[in-house]
Order: sequence, then C-alpha cells, then structure tokens
Amino acid sequence: MKLKGSTAVITGGASGIGEAIARRLAKDGVAVVIGDMNQEGIDRVVADIRAAGGKAAGKTANVTSDEEMGALMDFAAKEFGSINIVVPCAGIIKDGLMISTDKETGKVKKALSTADFRAVLEVNLVGTFVTLREAARRMIDSGWKGCLWTVSSIQKEGGVGQLNYSSTKAAVALWPKILVGEFHMKGITGIRVNSIAPGYVGTPMVKGMDQGALANIVKGVNLGRLIEPEEIADAIAWGSANDAVNATCLEVTGGMITGMIAK
Ligand SMILES: NC(=O)c1ccc[n+]([C@@H]2O[C@H](COP(=O)([O-])OP(=O)(O)OC[C@H]3O[C@@H](n4cnc5c(N)ncnc54)[C@H](O)[C@@H]3O)[C@@H](O)[C@H]2O)c1
Repeated sequence: MKLKGSTAVITGGASGIGEAIARRLAKDGVAVVIGDMNQEGIDRVVADIRAAGGKAAGKTANVTSDEEMGALMDFAAKEFGSINIVVPCAGIIKDGLMISTDKETGKVKKALSTADFRAVLEVNLVGTFVTLREAARRMIDSGWKGCLWTVSSIQKEGGVGQLNYSSTKAAVALWPKILVGEFHMKGITGIRVNSIAPGYVGTPMVKGMDQGALANIVKGVNLGRLIEPEEIADAIAWGSANDAVNATCLEVTGGMITGMIAK
C-alpha cells in the first residue's frame, strides 16, 4: 500500500506514541487526522505538522462516544477524501493490586475499585471497538483500502498490578485474527487488521511511573533502555505499507526478558 496520499485517523494523537505516529506518517505523505480529548495537544501537533509541510487536522473527540467517533471519521473523510489507516492510541492506566494487604497485620487494606477497573476497560477496550467500527463501516461502504490497528502492549502477557490494563491489552491483541476472519467471511478484501504490542516506551505515561520500578524493568530489556515513540511509529509505517502484514500482532519491545537468573 502506498502511504503517500492516504489518510490516517489517530486517536490519542495529542501525546506520546500517537503523536509520534502522526508526525511520522505525515512525513511519509499521509494526511493525518488526530482525535483526542486534549485540544491544546491537538493544536500543537497539527500546527507542527503543517509548519513542516505536512497535511493534518484535528478534532476533540472521546473514543468512548459512538457519536463523537462517527463525527471524527466523517470529519476525516470530508477533510481529506478517505480513511485508510486507523491507529487507536487513546489509552489510560489506573494501576493497583486487586487486593493490597497491610504490612504489619497482613489484613486487607485496600482493593482495586470497580470504577478504576471499568474506566480502563471503557477507554482501552470499548474505545478501540468504537473507533475501529466507525472507521470500518465507512471504509467498506466507500471502498477505501487500508490498515486498521489495535494498540496492545507487552502487558498482554499479564502485568502484575495491571489487572484492568492487561485485560484490555490481551483482548485487543486477538482482534486482528477475529476481524480479518470476519472480513474474509464476508468477502471484504483490502482492509487489513494488525496489532502492535510495544514494550516500555518513553512517553508521559511511562515516565510518570515509579522511577525505581522503571529502572528495574529496564534491567530486563535486552536493548538496555526505554523504546523511543518514533521506533513504534516506524513499525506502524512499515506494517501499514506492507500488504503481506495482516491479522498479526507485532511485538516491538527491545527484547523483553522474563525469568532472568542472576549471573
Ligand atoms: N508508553 C508505553 O510504554 C506503552 C506501551 C505499550 C502500549 N502503550 C499504549 O499506547 C497507547 C498510547 O500510550 P502513550 O504512552 O502514548 O500515552 P499518553 O498518555 O502519552 O497518550 C494517550 C493519549 O490518549 C488521550 N486520551 C485518553 N483518554 C481518551 C479518550 N477517552 N478519548 C480520546 N483520547 C483520549 C490522551 O489525552 C492522550 O493524548 C495506549 O493505548 C497505551 O496503553 C503504551
């Protein structure tokens, strides 16, 4: 698939990985539409891309809203004439152990709230569903070809303290096979579905973590450092352009090693 001249819709494009993907695809000649709840961030990224000679537009939108996601897709189609690449990068974390006990007494001190469990499912899982559905229905009806993504994580393997987050990331890693299967069943060709599973990327989400925990995590990365958002963007550009990459989940982790034995 030719990237130049196509249109990408990127949710969560006002920060972190989504922002890097927007900047990278714009450099490759893709018209980029950013949907995010952070208007200031949208304005900053869109202005930068335009100043560098790229095509970009943005709209405030909450990924959990059917109406707002529908409106974002219509906006993209109206601005640039099609929808070809969709990367739902909007995501949140609300970490915590399901049950925390008191060091002294060993009794239950705190529990992960239902509200914090639901909030992560709502944005990461329901939001991804709404985004892809609203894009796919328009792409199919208009005959636009392209690539839908889901944004998983290495935490799809099960991140301790991330019962809510890991559940969403394990789920969306399965979607390429399910959705491509559904498209295949209906004779829909030319819309690929892939997932990307980044390791620890140096974005505001990760840099805000406990620094001791972060240093420990990096010890288990063969690359020896956090991944740059641009390295994820590079993989998205490559995977979007390559028609043979379909119905798969691509891990970009720098080599995450688990179960290390001390030397
Ligand atoms: N940073 C990492 O190491 C890492 C690793 C693996 C996967 N991921 C995933 O990549 C995605 C992006 O992560 P990031 O680190 O760039 O995060 P980030 O916090 O830098 O950016 C997330 C963006 O999503 C937006 N957003 C949040 N809720 C929204 C909603 N309801 N509607 C619209 N926009 C909303 C925020 O405003 C923000 O701009 C997430 O899905 C995250 O789980 C991140």
